[in-house]
Amino acid sequence: MESLERKIQDASDYLMRKTTLRPKIGIILGTGLNELISALEMECNIPYSEIPHFPQPTVQFHAGNFVVGLLKGKAVMVMQGRIHCYEGYSPQEVAFPVWVMKNCGVQYLIIANAAGGLNPGFVAGDIMIITDHLNLMGFNPLTGKNMESMGVRFPDMSEPYSQELIRMAVEVSLAENVVIKKGIYVGILGPSLETAAETKFLRMIGADAVGMSTIPEVIAAAHCRIKVLGLSVISNLNIPEELKPFSIEEVVRTVEKATPRLVKIVQGVIEKLDS
Ligand code: HPA
Repeated sequence: MESLERKIQDASDYLMRKTTLRPKIGIILGTGLNELISALEMECNIPYSEIPHFPQPTVQFHAGNFVVGLLKGKAVMVMQGRIHCYEGYSPQEVAFPVWVMKNCGVQYLIIANAAGGLNPGFVAGDIMIITDHLNLMGFNPLTGKNMESMGVRFPDMSEPYSQELIRMAVEVSLAENVVIKKGIYVGILGPSLETAAETKFLRMIGADAVGMSTIPEVIAAAHCRIKVLGLSVISNLNIPEELKPFSIEEVVRTVEKATPRLVKIVQGVIEKLDS
Protein backbone atom coordinates (compact mmCIF):
# COMPACT_ATOMS: atom_id res chain seq x y z
CA MET A 1 0.00 0.00 0.00
CA GLU A 2 1.23 3.53 -0.78
CA SER A 3 2.30 5.50 2.25
CA LEU A 4 -0.34 8.27 1.96
CA GLU A 5 -3.03 5.60 1.71
CA ARG A 6 -1.58 3.85 4.75
CA LYS A 7 -1.57 7.11 6.74
CA ILE A 8 -5.23 7.73 5.79
CA GLN A 9 -6.05 4.19 6.92
CA ASP A 10 -4.19 4.64 10.24
CA ALA A 11 -6.03 7.87 11.02
CA SER A 12 -9.46 6.54 10.06
CA ASP A 13 -8.91 3.28 12.01
CA TYR A 14 -8.03 5.38 15.05
CA LEU A 15 -11.15 7.57 14.72
CA MET A 16 -13.48 4.63 14.12
CA ARG A 17 -12.18 2.93 17.25
CA LYS A 18 -13.12 6.04 19.27
CA THR A 19 -16.79 6.11 18.31
CA THR A 20 -19.68 3.79 17.57
CA LEU A 21 -21.27 6.39 15.28
CA ARG A 22 -20.73 6.04 11.52
CA PRO A 23 -21.37 9.55 10.16
CA LYS A 24 -22.16 10.15 6.51
CA ILE A 25 -21.88 13.90 7.08
CA GLY A 26 -18.60 15.74 7.60
CA ILE A 27 -18.29 19.38 8.61
CA ILE A 28 -15.23 21.64 8.46
CA LEU A 29 -15.49 24.79 10.52
CA GLY A 30 -13.45 27.92 9.98
CA THR A 31 -12.60 31.06 11.91
CA GLY A 32 -15.08 32.00 14.63
CA LEU A 33 -17.61 29.27 13.81
CA ASN A 34 -17.24 27.22 16.96
CA GLU A 35 -20.81 27.85 18.12
CA LEU A 36 -21.99 25.01 15.92
CA ILE A 37 -20.27 22.67 18.35
CA SER A 38 -22.60 23.76 21.17
CA ALA A 39 -25.61 22.70 19.06
CA LEU A 40 -24.11 19.21 18.91
CA GLU A 41 -24.82 16.21 21.11
CA MET A 42 -21.19 15.25 21.46
CA GLU A 43 -20.11 11.62 21.52
CA CYS A 44 -16.38 12.14 21.44
CA ASN A 45 -13.91 14.96 21.09
CA ILE A 46 -10.48 13.96 19.86
CA PRO A 47 -7.59 16.46 19.72
CA TYR A 48 -5.83 16.36 16.33
CA SER A 49 -2.60 15.72 18.23
CA GLU A 50 -3.90 12.24 19.17
CA ILE A 51 -4.84 11.22 15.63
CA PRO A 52 -2.03 9.48 13.72
CA HIS A 53 -0.47 11.66 10.98
CA PHE A 54 -2.97 14.50 11.50
CA PRO A 55 -1.67 18.05 10.88
CA GLN A 56 -1.91 20.52 13.77
CA PRO A 57 -3.45 23.98 13.36
CA THR A 58 -1.08 26.75 14.37
CA VAL A 59 -3.44 29.71 14.04
CA GLN A 60 -5.07 31.56 16.91
CA PHE A 61 -8.88 31.32 16.65
CA HIS A 62 -8.64 27.77 15.29
CA ALA A 63 -9.15 24.96 17.78
CA GLY A 64 -7.83 21.54 16.79
CA ASN A 65 -10.42 18.92 17.63
CA PHE A 66 -12.20 16.24 15.72
CA VAL A 67 -15.70 16.01 17.17
CA VAL A 68 -18.16 13.19 16.53
CA GLY A 69 -21.77 13.51 17.64
CA LEU A 70 -25.37 14.04 16.69
CA LEU A 71 -26.79 17.17 15.10
CA LYS A 72 -30.57 17.14 14.66
CA GLY A 73 -30.37 13.41 15.34
CA LYS A 74 -27.91 12.77 12.49
CA ALA A 75 -24.39 11.50 13.04
CA VAL A 76 -21.76 14.04 12.03
CA MET A 77 -17.98 14.33 12.25
CA VAL A 78 -16.75 17.86 12.66
CA MET A 79 -13.29 19.33 12.19
CA GLN A 80 -13.25 22.12 14.72
CA GLY A 81 -10.44 24.22 13.33
CA ARG A 82 -8.91 23.81 9.93
CA ILE A 83 -5.40 23.66 8.58
CA HIS A 84 -4.21 26.20 5.99
CA CYS A 85 -1.43 26.07 3.44
CA TYR A 86 -0.18 29.49 4.61
CA GLU A 87 0.78 27.79 7.90
CA GLY A 88 3.39 25.90 5.89
CA TYR A 89 1.39 22.73 5.33
CA SER A 90 1.34 21.16 1.90
CA PRO A 91 -1.97 21.00 -0.01
CA GLN A 92 -1.92 17.21 0.56
CA GLU A 93 -1.68 17.75 4.33
CA VAL A 94 -4.59 20.20 4.19
CA ALA A 95 -6.66 17.70 2.17
CA PHE A 96 -5.70 14.76 4.42
CA PRO A 97 -8.70 15.07 6.82
CA VAL A 98 -11.10 14.94 3.84
CA TRP A 99 -9.58 11.66 2.66
CA VAL A 100 -9.83 10.37 6.23
CA MET A 101 -13.52 11.35 6.35
CA LYS A 102 -14.10 9.56 3.03
CA ASN A 103 -12.44 6.44 4.43
CA CYS A 104 -14.73 6.65 7.48
CA GLY A 105 -17.82 6.67 5.22
CA VAL A 106 -18.57 10.39 4.79
CA GLN A 107 -20.67 11.19 1.69
CA TYR A 108 -21.55 14.85 2.32
CA LEU A 109 -19.19 17.62 3.37
CA ILE A 110 -20.29 21.00 4.68
CA ILE A 111 -17.44 23.51 4.63
CA ALA A 112 -17.72 26.92 6.25
CA ASN A 113 -15.20 29.73 6.08
CA ALA A 114 -14.73 33.43 6.65
CA ALA A 115 -14.15 35.41 3.47
CA GLY A 116 -13.66 38.97 2.29
CA GLY A 117 -16.56 40.30 0.23
CA LEU A 118 -15.67 41.51 -3.28
CA ASN A 119 -19.21 41.90 -4.56
CA PRO A 120 -20.33 45.48 -3.83
CA GLY A 121 -23.85 44.15 -3.17
CA PHE A 122 -22.62 42.28 -0.08
CA VAL A 123 -22.51 43.57 3.50
CA ALA A 124 -20.31 42.32 6.34
CA GLY A 125 -22.11 39.48 8.11
CA ASP A 126 -23.77 38.13 4.95
CA ILE A 127 -23.78 34.39 4.39
CA MET A 128 -22.83 33.33 0.87
CA ILE A 129 -23.47 29.91 -0.62
CA ILE A 130 -20.42 29.05 -2.73
CA THR A 131 -21.62 28.11 -6.22
CA ASP A 132 -18.17 27.67 -7.77
CA HIS A 133 -14.56 28.59 -7.16
CA LEU A 134 -11.44 30.02 -8.74
CA ASN A 135 -8.24 28.33 -7.62
CA LEU A 136 -5.54 31.00 -7.40
CA MET A 137 -3.69 29.27 -4.58
CA GLY A 138 -0.98 28.15 -6.97
CA PHE A 139 -1.26 24.44 -6.28
CA ASN A 140 -3.56 21.44 -6.26
CA PRO A 141 -3.73 18.68 -3.60
CA LEU A 142 -3.93 16.01 -6.30
CA THR A 143 -0.51 16.58 -7.86
CA GLY A 144 1.79 13.59 -7.60
CA LYS A 145 0.88 9.93 -7.91
CA ASN A 146 -2.87 9.47 -8.15
CA MET A 147 -4.55 7.59 -5.28
CA GLU A 148 -6.56 5.21 -7.46
CA SER A 149 -8.44 3.97 -4.39
CA MET A 150 -9.87 7.50 -3.96
CA GLY A 151 -10.61 8.61 -7.50
CA VAL A 152 -9.52 9.09 -11.10
CA ARG A 153 -6.42 10.88 -12.37
CA PHE A 154 -8.40 13.71 -13.99
CA PRO A 155 -11.36 14.43 -11.72
CA ASP A 156 -14.34 16.24 -13.16
CA MET A 157 -14.93 19.72 -11.71
CA SER A 158 -18.20 20.59 -13.44
CA GLU A 159 -20.08 20.50 -10.12
CA PRO A 160 -17.64 20.79 -7.19
CA TYR A 161 -20.43 22.34 -5.09
CA SER A 162 -23.49 20.10 -5.19
CA GLN A 163 -26.53 21.68 -6.86
CA GLU A 164 -28.73 19.45 -4.71
CA LEU A 165 -27.16 20.80 -1.50
CA ILE A 166 -27.30 24.39 -2.79
CA ARG A 167 -31.03 23.95 -3.44
CA MET A 168 -31.53 22.59 0.07
CA ALA A 169 -29.62 25.52 1.62
CA VAL A 170 -31.78 28.00 -0.31
CA GLU A 171 -34.95 26.21 0.84
CA VAL A 172 -33.78 26.33 4.44
CA SER A 173 -32.89 30.03 4.18
CA LEU A 174 -36.40 30.81 2.91
CA ALA A 175 -38.06 28.70 5.60
CA GLU A 176 -35.90 30.22 8.36
CA ASN A 177 -36.03 33.79 7.03
CA VAL A 178 -32.26 33.99 6.73
CA VAL A 179 -30.97 36.27 3.98
CA ILE A 180 -28.54 34.34 1.85
CA LYS A 181 -26.33 35.33 -1.09
CA LYS A 182 -24.76 33.13 -3.76
CA GLY A 183 -21.40 33.62 -5.35
CA ILE A 184 -17.99 32.50 -6.53
CA TYR A 185 -15.16 32.03 -4.02
CA VAL A 186 -11.59 32.73 -5.04
CA GLY A 187 -8.86 31.05 -3.02
CA ILE A 188 -5.50 32.76 -2.53
CA LEU A 189 -2.54 31.40 -0.59
CA GLY A 190 -2.19 34.24 1.98
CA PRO A 191 -1.34 34.97 4.72
CA SER A 192 -0.97 38.56 3.46
CA LEU A 193 -4.24 40.22 2.55
CA GLU A 194 -4.99 41.55 -0.91
CA THR A 195 -3.68 44.88 -2.18
CA ALA A 196 -6.28 47.25 -3.66
CA ALA A 197 -5.02 46.30 -7.16
CA GLU A 198 -5.39 42.57 -6.41
CA THR A 199 -8.87 43.16 -5.03
CA LYS A 200 -9.84 44.91 -8.27
CA PHE A 201 -8.38 42.03 -10.31
CA LEU A 202 -10.22 39.36 -8.28
CA ARG A 203 -13.53 41.16 -8.81
CA MET A 204 -12.78 41.55 -12.55
CA ILE A 205 -12.23 37.82 -13.00
CA GLY A 206 -15.64 37.09 -11.51
CA ALA A 207 -15.12 36.42 -7.80
CA ASP A 208 -17.64 37.49 -5.16
CA ALA A 209 -15.58 36.55 -2.10
CA VAL A 210 -11.92 35.85 -1.33
CA GLY A 211 -10.36 33.59 1.27
CA MET A 212 -7.32 31.49 2.13
CA SER A 213 -8.90 28.08 2.59
CA THR A 214 -11.49 25.57 1.34
CA ILE A 215 -10.19 24.95 -2.18
CA PRO A 216 -7.77 22.09 -1.34
CA GLU A 217 -10.49 20.33 0.67
CA VAL A 218 -13.10 20.82 -2.07
CA ILE A 219 -10.79 19.48 -4.79
CA ALA A 220 -10.02 16.43 -2.62
CA ALA A 221 -13.75 15.94 -2.01
CA ALA A 222 -14.53 16.20 -5.74
CA HIS A 223 -11.82 13.62 -6.44
CA CYS A 224 -13.35 11.09 -4.03
CA ARG A 225 -16.94 12.02 -4.98
CA ILE A 226 -18.06 13.58 -1.72
CA LYS A 227 -20.89 16.08 -2.23
CA VAL A 228 -19.95 19.54 -0.94
CA LEU A 229 -21.89 22.47 0.45
CA GLY A 230 -19.66 25.53 0.84
CA LEU A 231 -20.74 28.49 2.98
CA SER A 232 -18.78 31.72 3.38
CA VAL A 233 -19.44 34.25 6.08
CA ILE A 234 -18.55 37.64 4.64
CA SER A 235 -16.39 38.90 7.48
CA ASN A 236 -15.18 42.14 5.90
CA LEU A 237 -15.62 44.02 2.65
CA ASN A 238 -12.82 44.27 0.11
CA ILE A 239 -13.91 47.07 -2.17
CA PRO A 240 -10.81 48.56 -3.89
CA GLU A 241 -11.81 52.24 -3.62
CA GLU A 242 -12.48 51.95 0.09
CA LEU A 243 -10.09 49.25 1.29
CA LYS A 244 -9.68 49.48 5.07
CA PRO A 245 -6.88 48.03 7.21
CA PHE A 246 -7.67 44.38 8.01
CA SER A 247 -8.44 43.42 11.60
CA ILE A 248 -8.63 39.73 12.53
CA GLU A 249 -10.49 40.66 15.74
CA GLU A 250 -13.17 42.39 13.68
CA VAL A 251 -13.37 39.38 11.34
CA VAL A 252 -13.93 37.06 14.31
CA ARG A 253 -16.56 39.39 15.83
CA THR A 254 -18.48 39.62 12.53
CA VAL A 255 -18.36 35.87 11.99
CA GLU A 256 -19.50 35.18 15.55
CA LYS A 257 -22.51 37.45 15.00
CA ALA A 258 -23.38 35.56 11.82
CA THR A 259 -22.90 32.11 13.38
CA PRO A 260 -26.47 31.64 14.69
CA ARG A 261 -27.75 32.15 11.12
CA LEU A 262 -25.13 29.82 9.73
CA VAL A 263 -26.05 27.18 12.32
CA LYS A 264 -29.71 27.40 11.21
CA ILE A 265 -28.72 26.77 7.59
CA VAL A 266 -26.39 23.88 8.46
CA GLN A 267 -28.93 22.25 10.78
CA GLY A 268 -31.74 22.68 8.23
CA VAL A 269 -29.68 21.07 5.46
CA ILE A 270 -28.63 18.21 7.73
CA GLU A 271 -32.28 17.54 8.61
CA LYS A 272 -33.06 17.20 4.91
CA LEU A 273 -30.17 14.83 4.16
CA ASP A 274 -30.88 11.19 3.70
CA SER A 275 -28.31 9.79 6.12
N1 HPA B 1 -9.09 38.23 2.21
C1 HPA B 1 -8.64 36.97 2.27
N2 HPA B 1 -9.05 36.10 3.18
C2 HPA B 1 -9.96 36.51 4.07
C3 HPA B 1 -10.48 37.80 4.06
C4 HPA B 1 -10.01 38.71 3.09
O1 HPA B 1 -10.42 39.88 3.03
N3 HPA B 1 -11.37 37.90 5.08
C5 HPA B 1 -11.40 36.68 5.68
N4 HPA B 1 -10.56 35.83 5.07
